[in-house]
Amino acid sequence: MNFVEENDVVLIKLNNGEDFVIKIVKDGFLSVPFGTVFFNDLIGKEYGEVINFRGKNRRGYILKNSIVDYIFNLKRKTQVVYPKDVGYSILYLDLKPRDSVLECGTGSGAVTAVLSRAVGKEGRVITYDIDPENSKIAEENLTFIPFYNNVLFKTGNVKDGLKERDMDAFFLDVPDPENSVENAINTLKHSGKICIIAPTFNQVQKVLEKMEKMKNTIDIQVWETMIRNYKINPERLRPEDKMVGHTTFMIFGTKVVWR
Ligand SMILES: C[S@@+](CC[C@H](N)C(=O)[O-])C[C@H]1O[C@@H](n2cnc3c(N)ncnc32)[C@H](O)[C@@H]1O
Repeated sequence: MNFVEENDVVLIKLNNGEDFVIKIVKDGFLSVPFGTVFFNDLIGKEYGEVINFRGKNRRGYILKNSIVDYIFNLKRKTQVVYPKDVGYSILYLDLKPRDSVLECGTGSGAVTAVLSRAVGKEGRVITYDIDPENSKIAEENLTFIPFYNNVLFKTGNVKDGLKERDMDAFFLDVPDPENSVENAINTLKHSGKICIIAPTFNQVQKVLEKMEKMKNTIDIQVWETMIRNYKINPERLRPEDKMVGHTTFMIFGTKVVWR
């Protein structure tokens, strides 16, 4: 269906660059710098249609909410993993429909949403956070994407060990990953893959030392992704003056019986 219905979650993109992810509820409205949008007027519009405001060049568009819009607009209490990083990780972890994946910590649910979509309706995402308040926020955030009900939110400390076994993949994003990596790898099946988020060199070094001692992980790789945006004037095509310098390092590995 390419028409806006009540309870759809949509993206309203203004031509000043601002955007808003909102749920279209009856009698609701959104006040933006250009004026007010009444949701009753949006129901029945085709996605991609223009929303006009009074005044020159004042307009917006009603669009489908993508997973990247979701990540950049979600309610966050924690730092989230950037789309450029989670995108590569999902490919490396080789997630596909029907896979089982563990995540720790849940945080704001940015990665949870991507994992949920990757493993699909018949897959399984189990996500742990030590703080139940974060799990609650993430669960609310996930209602803003078309969502498969394949996510189980759990409260727990990864350092105490996790009871799950034979998982296809693990996504680890906690402040001291070196103290959790062993418990995380223990949950994987042989040939299962792990991605560890580590923003600093010190963390990467400690995780690598730990993996070296464990002797059950091969193909260990450390990656950093960089994206350079371009100014889109075709006659003066050139990179933007500023770019995001650093978000995180990602450490990957594949579990084996013995190395
Ligand atoms: C940076 S956030 C994760 C963000 C998440 N990847 C996202 O993109 O939304 C780190 C999370 O790990 C949780 N955490 C910290 N230590 C933990 C532990 N030992 N066991 C489980 N969760 C932990 C924190 O409560 C926090 O929510």
